[in-house]
Amino acid sequence: MTRKIVIIGSGHVGATLAHMIVANGFADELVLIDQNEAKVTADAIDLREALPNLPFHTAITVNDYAALGDADIVVSALGKISLNDGAKEDRFSELDFNSQQVKAVAPRIRDSGFNGILVVISNPVDAITQMYQQITGLPRKHVLGTGTMLDSARMKRAVADKLDLDARAVTGYNLGEHGNSQFTAWSTVRALDQPLTELAHTRNLDLTALDHEARHGGYAIFNGKGYTNFGIATAASRLINVIYSDAKAVLPVSNYRDQYDVYLSHPVIVGRDGVIADVPLHLTAEELGKLQKSADFIRTNYEKYQN
Ligand code: LAC
Repeated sequence: MTRKIVIIGSGHVGATLAHMIVANGFADELVLIDQNEAKVTADAIDLREALPNLPFHTAITVNDYAALGDADIVVSALGKISLNDGAKEDRFSELDFNSQQVKAVAPRIRDSGFNGILVVISNPVDAITQMYQQITGLPRKHVLGTGTMLDSARMKRAVADKLDLDARAVTGYNLGEHGNSQFTAWSTVRALDQPLTELAHTRNLDLTALDHEARHGGYAIFNGKGYTNFGIATAASRLINVIYSDAKAVLPVSNYRDQYDVYLSHPVIVGRDGVIADVPLHLTAEELGKLQKSADFIRTNYEKYQN
C-alpha cells in the first residue's frame, strides 16, 4: 500500500509539516499544493534535497489536484494572517479570507474523487472543518480538525513547567473552540497520579493563570514571529501517524458534535477510519456551561459566512 498525503497550503505550517512527514518517512508520496507556484516548487526542491541524508524515500510533487483521487490523507494548511487585521487576538478574524479559499478548494477535493481522511489545520479550524465537510460531502467522521490538540499540549507544558515534570506526564484536555472561547477542563487534568484540582492546593498552583497560558500561548508566539508552526505541525503530524497506524488514540480533535451541530474539540478515539468513537467525559456543571457557550460562539460566527 502506497501511503499518499496531500498538503494544501505550503506556508509556514504546511512546509513545516511537509518536512516532518519527509524526515520521519510518514508517506511514500507527498503532494504539495499552493497558489504560489514559485514557493511550492522551491519547497519541493528543498525537500527533495533532504532525501539524500534520510533513511526514507518520498516522491514529492506539486500542484496536482488530480493526484488527490487516491490520496489517503489530505491536510488543509491554507490560511493568511495579517498582523494588522486584528488576527493577533482572534482566529475568527481569519474566517473571511480563509472561507473564500475553502470555497474554491473544497469542490476540487470533492471532484477529485478523494475518499480518505481530511485533516484541517486552517483557522478558525472548527468553522473551517465544518465548511470543508459540508462542501466535500465526506462522512463527518472522515473530516477532523487539529482543534485543541495544540491548546491541550500548551496546557500540559504550562502545568509540567510548574511541577518540574515531562509534559507527557500531564493528561487532560482543553475543550471547545480552538480559539478564545475554549477552556481548560480541569476536571480531566491529572499529574503525579492526582487530579490537578487537588495538586493545585498542595503545590499552590494558580489554575486561572495556567488556563490563560494554555488558551493564549499561541498569541505570545504569534506576536513574536508573526505565525506559529512547530507546535501545530507536530500535532498534525501525530494525528497523521495515529490515522495511518490505526492507533485508536484518544485525542481532543475538532469533530462534529451532534448535540451542538458544530465542530468543536472533545476527546474521541481516532484511527484509520477517522473518528471511531466518542469519549464521554464527566464534566462539572461549570465546564458543561463553558462548552455550550463555546459551541454557541462557533455556530453564531460560522453562520455569518454560510452563504
Ligand atoms: C496556534 C494556531 C495554529 O494556536 O492557531 O498556534
